[in-house]
Amino acid sequence: MKRVVFDTDIGIDDAMALLFLHFARDVELQAIVTGFGNASVDSTTRNALYLKEKFGIEAPVFRGATEPIGPSLLRGYPDFVHGRNGLGDIDIPDLGCRAESQPGAQAIVDVVRQYPGEVSIVAVGRMTNVAAALELCPELPQLVQQLVVMGGAFGFNGHRGNVSPVAEANIAGDPLAADRVFTSGLPTTIVGLDVTEEVIMDRAYFDSLRKDAGLAGRFIYDISRYYLAFHESVTGRYACPVHDSSAVAWLLQPDLFTTLDSTIRVATEGIACGQTVWAAPGTRYETNGWDGLPVCGICTAVDSDTLLQLYADTLASAVGKPSR
Ligand code: BDR
Ligand code: CA
Repeated sequence: MKRVVFDTDIGIDDAMALLFLHFARDVELQAIVTGFGNASVDSTTRNALYLKEKFGIEAPVFRGATEPIGPSLLRGYPDFVHGRNGLGDIDIPDLGCRAESQPGAQAIVDVVRQYPGEVSIVAVGRMTNVAAALELCPELPQLVQQLVVMGGAFGFNGHRGNVSPVAEANIAGDPLAADRVFTSGLPTTIVGLDVTEEVIMDRAYFDSLRKDAGLAGRFIYDISRYYLAFHESVTGRYACPVHDSSAVAWLLQPDLFTTLDSTIRVATEGIACGQTVWAAPGTRYETNGWDGLPVCGICTAVDSDTLLQLYADTLASAVGKPSR
């Protein structure tokens, strides 16, 4: 059984990842921590509560970061990708449940302290909440089992940035937080654009989800219309990359990925702000920004077909189960 904290800026693909976790066998979701990113933290928290209510998710929701801790490359919210409400502008009814009173970063610390060595954090938004948790609890790296991050781009498979030529949105939205997290010693695997842009869901895939995956499949179909229209406007293809669910897939089945261990730094200012840079293991450089720092795993390749099958099977397997 994997105990998981999901740190998210829900978001269309975040919602898909949350349902992946919710329906996965052997996952016990301990907390959902929200943050700014795809929409304001008010909107992402409301979206988390909406999913909790609609799908009977037991985990409590904690409101997290409202803004970055350092300079950000990004301004405002990407409503052209996720809609003004973050869920493709579907109707969201009034909700009967509320977020917990404790702040998100404190919730991360509390869950990890409650189950030392057992908790994985899946972080698919800005790294702001995890950086704040490190401030509150400097021994977090020794207590967390695994941090899985969707973020960054390292140039493998020809994939670079999606908000600048070198920067990916989750990292560009709070580069300083990401640099602190990646150099903290937290046992970290980074699932970046190098692999998430290799996993593509197309029209037929969403049609199948709608047909085979019950309420969740129909919900995903509805929220994905906006996301697919955005991607079609950029690529000409009615299909989208699988970002946040790829991080969940790493947690569930890491052997779907090839990884490389490396020191990771993040550019925190200038034209390359938000760029994730890996240092070739064992190489000595003239500069000392790389020496003696802990390493992270970065994903360099993925078995895309098996990942897509895992997602579809996980969602379909839940059909007919109580509260799912
Ligand atoms: C990441 O940015 C957000 O828009 C997505 O939810 C994903 O986490 C992809 O760059
Ligand atoms: Ca996200």
